[in-house]
This record gives sequence, structure tokens and C-alpha cells, in this order.
Amino acid sequence: MTMILNNVQDALVNAYSQFSLLEGGENANYIPYLASIPNNVSSMAIVTVDGDILSQGDSDFRFALESISKVCSLALALEDVGPAEVQNKIGADPTGLPFNSVIALELHNGKPLSPLVNAGAMSTVSLLKASSSEHRWERILDIQQQLAGAPISLCEELNHSEQTTNFHNRAIAWLLYSADAMYCDPMEACDVYTRQCSTLVNTVELATMAATFAAGGINPITQKKVLTTENIPFLLAEMTMEGMYGSSGDWAYTVGLPAKSGVGGGILTVVPGVMGIAAFSPPLDAMGNSVRGQKMTASFTQQLGYNLY
Ligand code: DON
Repeated sequence: MTMILNNVQDALVNAYSQFSLLEGGENANYIPYLASIPNNVSSMAIVTVDGDILSQGDSDFRFALESISKVCSLALALEDVGPAEVQNKIGADPTGLPFNSVIALELHNGKPLSPLVNAGAMSTVSLLKASSSEHRWERILDIQQQLAGAPISLCEELNHSEQTTNFHNRAIAWLLYSADAMYCDPMEACDVYTRQCSTLVNTVELATMAATFAAGGINPITQKKVLTTENIPFLLAEMTMEGMYGSSGDWAYTVGLPAKSGVGGGILTVVPGVMGIAAFSPPLDAMGNSVRGQKMTASFTQQLGYNLY
């Protein structure tokens, strides 16, 4: 194991040193908090299914989970209602359009197609079993913490920044409601979805989430069974189809591993049965994916020959 970890460490150092300062991209500017984050921070971490942790860079730096939260809530929805209902009510196909597209909804009679775009994510939140808005939120925060194996909290400043600028998402929530694709009060779903995007994680916590998926639902740090093993392939399939938004096909072609990005600059990647990988740096490309995070992850996985295809 030590020899294997030495290779992993070398690959991590290589990937980080080559790409952590790469030029290009811009912080997300449509959420004021994200625009204010320094653009020169980068980090990477891996957590193996045996619980080994390696990291590079500012791995204590906490950043906004944003869209990566969609995977956590999807995992919970799969537990609550099962894979068939997720596929029927939300879908498992890429939209081929930006993550906040209204046109994508219009083209498919209001069916979101993927739980990993904003429409599908709000619909997913609405599917969760909950007796109140607070209960819905507590369940989501709890699954984020179980997956990360660490306490996670809402960033009040970020949440305020998002809640006061999320008009487009509110419109999407009402469109879903009008198409019978919203399963709780639409403003409750939008509010809770916005909160789930506004939690902070570091790369070790993000890699632990990925490692829990890689380990069939058992968190390798806490050793707790968090998810039903049989649900993991459905989660990974959704990530393959839409996890990197409009770049999901290119990502499958070049990296060949299920991943999920967020506009906070994080990327979570799963090497099933082996490890979880997290990469972070705020500047994004036109699709909304971290420029350095993609390069660091691609370099690391290619050096080690990790590719499902
Ligand atoms: O819904 C939004 O706009 C954000 N709270 C999250 C979007 C996001 O991270 C899309 N990702 N690349």
C-alpha cells in the first residue's frame, strides 16, 4: 500500500505544481460573495476507500459547495424514493444547455431531465421526505455532513448573497410547479436549494464525500454506512451525464470518471472502488467549471491510469 501511495503522492504533487497557478477563467460574478474570493487559491485532496488522505495546496481553505450539493441531495432522494421515481419524475439525460436554462424545461414539457441542473435539483429537493421547510433543510445538511465525515455549516454571508439574487431560480421553480414537476411548495424548494448551495467545505471534506461514493456508500473516515450501495451506480450515471454541465461529454472522453463541479470552483471526482478526488480553484471557464480544477484532476488521473472506459 505504501508504494502505491507513493505513486499517488507523486502524481498529486505533479498535477498540483503544473496547474495550480494556470492562467485563465474568471470567478463566478453573478453571486457577489463568489466574485469576492481571491482567485489565486488552489488545492487538491484525495481520500482512498481505506481512509488514507493526501492533499496539496490550501486544503484548509473552505469554499462554497454550490452545485456539488446537487449530488448530496440526489443521493438522499435515491434513498427516499428510489431510482425509478427519480428517473420518472426528474430524468437521467443531459440537457445540452446551460445549468440554469429555462429553454431546456420548455423543450421537454417541464421535465427537468437531470437532477444536476438547477431545475432538476430544485425538483429533487422537493421530492425529499420532510414535514417542514426546516426539516427538509436539516436532512440535507445532515447528508452533507455524513458524506463529508465532518461538521458543515451554512455561510450566512453567502446564503444572503444568493437568496437576494436568485430570481432566475425562483422563476424556474414556478415553471416546474406549473408543469407538475414540483413536489412541495416551489418557494420552499428554491429557498432550501439555495441554502444547500451556500455551505462551505474544504478539499479534504469534498474528497471524503467522493470517497464515500467510491466505497459503495460507506464513509471511509467515519466507517459509517451513509448510502445504500445499490443506489451508487445511479448517482454516478447522473454525474457522468451532466456533472460537468456542457463539458460532460468532453470530460467523459478525456478523463472518463464521474464528477461534479460547482461555481464555487470545486470539482468532486469518483474513482469507483479506489478513491475520491477533490480539486478547487475559483476561476471558471464559460461552462461554469473550474479551469485549474479540471486540469489538476485530469493530470492526476491520467498519470495513474484511472479511467473507467
Ligand atoms: O443555482 C445557482 O445558480 C447556484 N447556487 C449554484 C449553481 C452552480 O454551482 C452551477 N455550477 N456550476
